[in-house]
Amino acid sequence: MKIVSTIASLKAAVAEARKAGKVIGLVPTMGALHKGHLSLVRKACEECQFVVVSVFVNPTQFNNPEDLRTYPRTLDADTKLLADNTNADIVFAPSVEEVYPEPDTRQFAFGPIAEVMEGKYRPGHFNGVAQIVSKLFYFVEPDKAFFGEKDFQQLAIIRQMVKDLNLNINIIPCPIIREDDGLAVSSRNTLLEPQFRKVAPHINATLRASVFKQTYLTPAETIDWVTKEINSFGNLELEYYSIVDGLTLQPITNWSDSSYVVGCITVYAGKVRLIDNVCYKS
Ligand code: PAJ
Repeated sequence: MKIVSTIASLKAAVAEARKAGKVIGLVPTMGALHKGHLSLVRKACEECQFVVVSVFVNPTQFNNPEDLRTYPRTLDADTKLLADNTNADIVFAPSVEEVYPEPDTRQFAFGPIAEVMEGKYRPGHFNGVAQIVSKLFYFVEPDKAFFGEKDFQQLAIIRQMVKDLNLNINIIPCPIIREDDGLAVSSRNTLLEPQFRKVAPHINATLRASVFKQTYLTPAETIDWVTKEINSFGNLELEYYSIVDGLTLQPITNWSDSSYVVGCITVYAGKVRLIDNVCYKS
């Protein structure tokens, strides 16, 4: 496994692989790698003959400077984890100056899917995600790119971006990897102090329990139930819970409004913001 930090050396390695007729896969990450990321890389290695993993804490997608400052940066451990557990070919770990020699002034407009949930609560976040992911797509020109369903709205935005830019990239969704107690694995989990880590599994447990409520509660009543339940644990504070159509991401009023229904949640456990989702119907 090769570690490169410049776009030129990345492009040279990818060009060689492409010349050899290899299918190129890309797994974008912000590092602090864990078993969720590894599942994406392993899937990429199954489906592609040359796999690039990018490790870059992208400043333009952080709307909270404190979140950017405290975001874990563990490149040495990340490269060791990848080398020991996957067949990834290249780790691309550039500096901020390499990726953004000039401030990126591009503004992406994704319409209604970007205006709800994370789009509403983290203004500018998806514009930053689109800035970095579009750059990575230009650098690597992968055949396939792998994204986790944990960031459900991000996946929808990337799919939209690929259509908007007419890119010939297959976006491959990957299932959420969880700890044994149900907590969705996240780089931010390492920031949880013990009293918050202890209650955090209630997020997934509550979502799973709510799936059974749909036989006798409306979506609005289910949102109320989840809200009360989460806030009742102490040490957890719900930011939002939305029950939406899985493709348009617009809220539904009745369960019959859509054949693909997903619930998306964000919860503060102390200062740490956790996200998760659950499928009601597909
Ligand atoms: P990051 O949070 O590092 O996540 C990188 C990828 O891993 C994303 O596609 C995310 O959905 C996936 N992932 C994280 N935790 C997961 C889990 N528990 N199960 C399955 N997949 C999981 O998402 C980003 O970085 C950034 O926004 C990025 C796309 C790299 C752009 O900067």
